[in-house]
Amino acid sequence: MSISENIRKQMNDSSWIRKMFEEGIILKEKYGTENVFDLSLGNPNAEPPDKLKSVMNSIINNDEKGLHRYMPNAGFQDTRKSIANNINSETNLNFTEEEIIMTCGAAGAINVFLKSILDQDDEVIIISPYFAEYLFYIKNHNGIPVISRSNKDFLPNLEDLSKKINNKTKAILINSPNNPSGVIYHDEIIKQLGLLLEKFEKKYEKSIYLVSDEPYRKVVYEKKCPYIFNFYKNSVVVTSFSKDLGLAGERIGYIAFNPKISNKSDLIDAAIFSNRTLGFVNAPAISQRIVKELQDSVIDITFYKSKRDFLYKELIRIGYKCILPQGAFYMFPKSPIKNDEKFVQILQSKRVLVVPGVGFGTPSHFRISYCVDDSTLEGSIKGFEEAFNEI
Ligand SMILES: Cc1ncc(COP(=O)(O)O)c(C=O)c1O
Repeated sequence: MSISENIRKQMNDSSWIRKMFEEGIILKEKYGTENVFDLSLGNPNAEPPDKLKSVMNSIINNDEKGLHRYMPNAGFQDTRKSIANNINSETNLNFTEEEIIMTCGAAGAINVFLKSILDQDDEVIIISPYFAEYLFYIKNHNGIPVISRSNKDFLPNLEDLSKKINNKTKAILINSPNNPSGVIYHDEIIKQLGLLLEKFEKKYEKSIYLVSDEPYRKVVYEKKCPYIFNFYKNSVVVTSFSKDLGLAGERIGYIAFNPKISNKSDLIDAAIFSNRTLGFVNAPAISQRIVKELQDSVIDITFYKSKRDFLYKELIRIGYKCILPQGAFYMFPKSPIKNDEKFVQILQSKRVLVVPGVGFGTPSHFRISYCVDDSTLEGSIKGFEEAFNEI
């Protein structure tokens, strides 16, 4: 045995991802890529805002020395300041650069924060449906993921949540707008969540962090996504520019700590240390300079909205049951048969690739990524219709 038993187990637990991926490759080889409708990946396909080119040109043409060197592990001060100002424009809190740490994407931000707070067997609660990688991120730092269910509307079920909180609970990790459901956690639910956590903080005489993963904050259609900061003191946002600026490959994100968070300087020092020692060292320098200039920019939201509207209308016409997503670029319909893995296989036989809900801790559903070309989306409808009519 040459590899870690732990990793082997985790790879086996997620083998459905590999299986799905491999079956996709076989189908594409057999029928040609253009005849397979792959809606399984969340790779944002909107191009970055036009301003990116001029910003990159000015970075490239800057003759200043030391542009590509290491910087403080938290990141460039001016970039952090520009992000703090952007958050201040939407909250009444006074963020400064001190409360922002630049990271390698939201994934880096989550890992840095979890590394900084978790001791062996501490628990982190996640709400199903959840982003599948959370399970591994929590285990990366010797934590235990605890799953709490949501209501029919995919908002947290607070009764269930309160049963899951105990003396070992270190954090609740939420995600809004949500991957896979597209649901936004509204003001009222965050307020109630905050009140609940305050009650448990008192009971157990310790901090319980509310961590909100928000890479889709600006990818919203009718409603805005509220910030958690005004509802709960011990709150942290982990996020990135992967989706709202279309920079997923450039690995740039940040952690924002509530300016009123308990033990602030200790916590921030720990996160800066973790950013360094997890081997990230610092977020990429060029990406930091880019996002500093793009705080007011966002990809063309209508690009995803028209895909959402088209897909939703078609699925409802066929007879699928689905909540209209308010943000992100995923849809999470109910599987017409209880066994979602079986239904995903039926869709595969129609050359449509989606992800079973079991992967998000919510069986009997399946996830569709609609961040694909219009032709792929349009081409998939026939398969959705045939599969629905077949069962
Ligand atoms: C909910 C959620 N969190 C985190 C990430 C990771 O994003 P990043 O590319 O910024 O690391 C993703 C990526 O798909 C996501 O969907």
